[in-house]
Amino acid sequence: MGTYAVTGAASGMGAAVVDRLVGDGHTVIGVDIKEADVVADLSTPEGRRTAATAVLDRAGGVLDGAVLAAGLGPAPGRDRARLIAEVNYLGVVELLEAWRPALAAAERAKVVVFSSNSTTTMPMVPRRAVRALLDRDVPKALGSLRMFGKMAPSFAYGASKIAVSQWVRRQAVTREWAGAGIRLNAIAPGAILTPLLEQQLATPAEAKRINAFPVPIGGFGDPGQLAAWVVFMLSDAADFLCGSVVFVDGGSDAWFRADDW
Ligand code: NAI
Repeated sequence: MGTYAVTGAASGMGAAVVDRLVGDGHTVIGVDIKEADVVADLSTPEGRRTAATAVLDRAGGVLDGAVLAAGLGPAPGRDRARLIAEVNYLGVVELLEAWRPALAAAERAKVVVFSSNSTTTMPMVPRRAVRALLDRDVPKALGSLRMFGKMAPSFAYGASKIAVSQWVRRQAVTREWAGAGIRLNAIAPGAILTPLLEQQLATPAEAKRINAFPVPIGGFGDPGQLAAWVVFMLSDAADFLCGSVVFVDGGSDAWFRADDW
């Protein structure tokens, strides 16, 4: 049995992953801003440091895997774009950099990062914002999104998920990750019925947009189904999976870009 760190453990897909791992007999160290083993605010540098250190202390320096599910969806609000950039991007990469030696110590560790199918289905996400996030320059990223006004949080969301996917793919193949026996991959869900999506559906204009979005098999995904994919990506069966972004989205990515190779 292994020891796994799971961020976003208090709700939605993170909570569903915790249920499965615990049900399979593993030890889970949950991280969240509320109701978790490690309570930390991943939107601040101090909160990210606390989360990184507290997990390493609890794990005794060896982690068999990590699941980075903490995230904020697009919603209105003055500070929302910054929070999205900090939690969805820095809340993944800073924690994983801190945990990398503990993952390497496990020898066959697996990491799953939550991306999104917005990476390929959301048009017009400024590349400048993505580049700024990859450079860890959140003010610069926000500056390049200012022209979107009230829509800035939506584009911050798209940029955060593109940046985190690029980071995963760049790092996954390096000596520090693949070379240290760590399998680093991402999952890209479509619309999954969690509190995050419910919050969006509560706004009539957003609900209209979400319901009009093409999903070839129809409806919304279920958090438990996504958790099953994550657990598979943490298993020995995924030893040959490295730097992949696995789309589990009812067909939307294929609908938009079947010929895009
Ligand atoms: P959720 O809202 O149910 O869970 C997200 C968790 O992140 C919550 O427990 C929340 O407290 C935690 N969190 C938020 N801000 C935090 C902070 N500052 N510090 C620490 N923890 C914080 O959301 P859901 O749907 O389970 O999302 C999981 C991941 O999947 C997210 O990264 C999201 O962007 C991604 N995703 C979700 C989709 C959906 O349709 N639900 C679609 C595509 C991607």
